[in-house]
This record gives sequence, structure tokens and C-alpha cells, in this order.
Amino acid sequence: MSKLSIADLKDLRGKRVLVRADYNVPLDDKCAITDDTRIKETVRTIEFLTERGTKVVLTSHLGRPDGKRVESMSLRPVAARLAELLKRPVAFVDDCIGEKVTKTVGAMKPGDVVLLENTRFYAEEEDNDAKFAEKLASVGDIYVNDAFGTAHRAHASTAGVCKFIKTSAAGFLMQKELTYLGEELASPARPFLVILGGAKVSDKIGVITNLLAKADGFIIGGAMAYTFLKAQGIGIGRSLVEEDKLGLAKQVLAKIQALGVKFHLPADHIVAQKVETPVAGQKKPKVEFKNPHQSSDASIEVGFCGVDIGPKTIERYRNELMQAKTIVWNGPMGIFEIPEYSAGTFEIARVVAAATQAGAKSIIGGGDSVKAVKKAKVGDKVTFISTGGGASLEFLEGRELPGVAALSDK
Ligand code: 3PG
Repeated sequence: MSKLSIADLKDLRGKRVLVRADYNVPLDDKCAITDDTRIKETVRTIEFLTERGTKVVLTSHLGRPDGKRVESMSLRPVAARLAELLKRPVAFVDDCIGEKVTKTVGAMKPGDVVLLENTRFYAEEEDNDAKFAEKLASVGDIYVNDAFGTAHRAHASTAGVCKFIKTSAAGFLMQKELTYLGEELASPARPFLVILGGAKVSDKIGVITNLLAKADGFIIGGAMAYTFLKAQGIGIGRSLVEEDKLGLAKQVLAKIQALGVKFHLPADHIVAQKVETPVAGQKKPKVEFKNPHQSSDASIEVGFCGVDIGPKTIERYRNELMQAKTIVWNGPMGIFEIPEYSAGTFEIARVVAAATQAGAKSIIGGGDSVKAVKKAKVGDKVTFISTGGGASLEFLEGRELPGVAALSDK
């Protein structure tokens, strides 16, 4: 890595280290944390710093409070969970800049850990306001960015702050993410297969374009497959389709053919009739899927829409994936939130786990595929699960992440 790493930092004792974490964790309606993965993943960086006698000042955002204080988006529950994980007290300050913060940090002793309140309670955070970044930076002698999940945002706490602190390094989680999503894929073991799913071709076109020259094949599922099928002149009934992306889909298919890259589209589907019933007083209608059944081939009958990949497709995808040596997966194969239409996504998760056991490296990026892998109970059987949703997608598109670009060079 060309950027400075936390492991490169010297003479840390007594220094105040401002650590940007991504503690944007899911909370239930009682503000209890429902998935603490992102908190657990920062423990190594924090322990490295406390063991070396630094004063650790943690900062993060949570949710999208739009520059206002929203109590349900407070980071207080994160401080409590972090204290349990670290087995040491984590002080919480209900602000991220100002006098309270300066006083608390001023009283810290080597090895102490403090978590500051949600940076997005200030509109200046997302505006990447220089004065706000300077205030954040004033409590750190060194800056460590471990928030890979937010590295695609050029915000004050992820990028702006680096202008005001001389030394800015990547934390261990950030490094791990950049290694798996970057270095490992720069010269992958072959065959290298990319599984893409989700609703929209437009969300994944950047990944296809960036990995076209590197991948041996693409395996496509989810609603994005219907746009590609329609572009090939196959009937897709009432399936979700991006009409304005049909031209783009045709161009991609032509490019793929010219390069000789394999591009697998579903050979059959689970289809159903979508019924939308208006609900009094609510904007969104109630959506139900009726009369589900298997299609006989890649086409979808009039009046029906695709909701999952079919059994023939699962078998074909299994055969391909079991031969792979590197697999990247982003996006579900169908509407996996509905149990009847989750078989394709969960089966692919199990196949990826089996391929990993057979020697492949598997890298899972993106919110829904991560959820699917965990729900299929194979989270511990894949090589790497990214903590980034949008960030992992942008990185796989080959884009520079502002949170990484702002760090000091080695
Ligand atoms: C995420 O969960 O993807 C990150 O924390 C970024 O959050 P954002 O999309 O609200 O910027």
C-alpha cells in the first residue's frame, strides 16, 4: 500500500490519536444495536493504540440526521458496546467539537478511550467544511482512518481533517479491506468469477466495466438480469427493467462477446404475479406476489415477473463457481427478503462457501450479499466479508476513495 499504515507509526506514547471509525450500525426501535460487526472490526486498531499508551479519540457518523441533533441517531449505545468488547471504560461526549470535547480530551491519560457524538449532527460534516474539520482535528496529534465503509464520502471527518493533522494513517480494518478488494484482485488466481445481482444494471455497470479485463466470467442474477435478457430480445413479462439502460446493456454484451469473457444470465426463473393494493392513508401500496411457479426457460410469460433464479440456473451457476479460484459477490439473486424467493440467493451463498472450502478465495462486498451470507449461516466459511456497502462498490468500480486519497503517503 502506498499510504501510511498504523503499523508504521512510531513514538506513540502520550499522543492523542483521532480515529475515524464507521459506527453506522443498525439499531432497532429501542436504539439497541442489531449487528455489531463494524464495532468489533475496529477493536484491533484501538487495542494497538491503547497498548502503546496513546489517548484514543473516536469519531463516527450514524445514519443520516441531515445536520440536526436526532437522539435516535446518537452514538451513545456504541460507546457501551465498545466498552464491553474492549473490556475497558469508553467515555462518551455528547458533542464532537467544542469545549466539552476539548476538556474531556485534555483530561485523558495514556490508554484512555473516548467516543465523540455523531459528526453528522453538524451539516458542516457532509459539506466538508474546513473550519469544522479544523475543530475536529484540534484534538488529535495523529489521525487514523479505519472507516472503510465511509471512505467513499469526502466529508470533514473522513477527508477534510487530514489537512489539519500532519500524520494520517490507515487503520487495520481499512488496510484489510484495501488488501482484499484491491491487491488480491489485482492479480487474482484463475478462474476469477464475479457474481452480480440486485435490482439495477445502472448500479453495477461500473463494476462490470472495471473488472471486464480482469475477470474470466460474470454470473448475473437479480432484477438486473431482466434488463440484459430484454436487450437480447428475450420476453421478460412484467419483470423490473431499466428501459433507459437497454442500449447500455447491448453495448456491454457486445464488448463482453468481443473480449471472449463468459457472461452467464439466468436460464430459468421463479416467477409470480405482482399485486399492488392501495392502503388507506399510506403512500405505498401493499405489495404481494401471487401464483409463484418455475418458468420453463429464460423467458418470462406475459403478466408475470421474475422474483428469483430457477433450479436449472442454480445448477449451472454451481458448476461454474465450483471451478473458480477467486470469487467476488455483490448483490442478491432475487427478492431474498421474502422466504419463498430466497432459495437462489441462499443457495449461491452456500455454493460460494463450498467453493471456498475447495480452495477458492471468496470476497463478499455490499450490504445485501453480506446479509444473505450471514442469513445462510456461511459467514465464517467465506474468505472475506467487506464492512463497506457503497464504499466496496465504488472501490470495485476502480474509483479513488476520498478517505484513502487524503491519507499521508508512506
Ligand atoms: C454505509 O453504511 O454505507 C456508510 O456508513 C456510509 O453511510 P452513508 O451512505 O449514509 O454515507
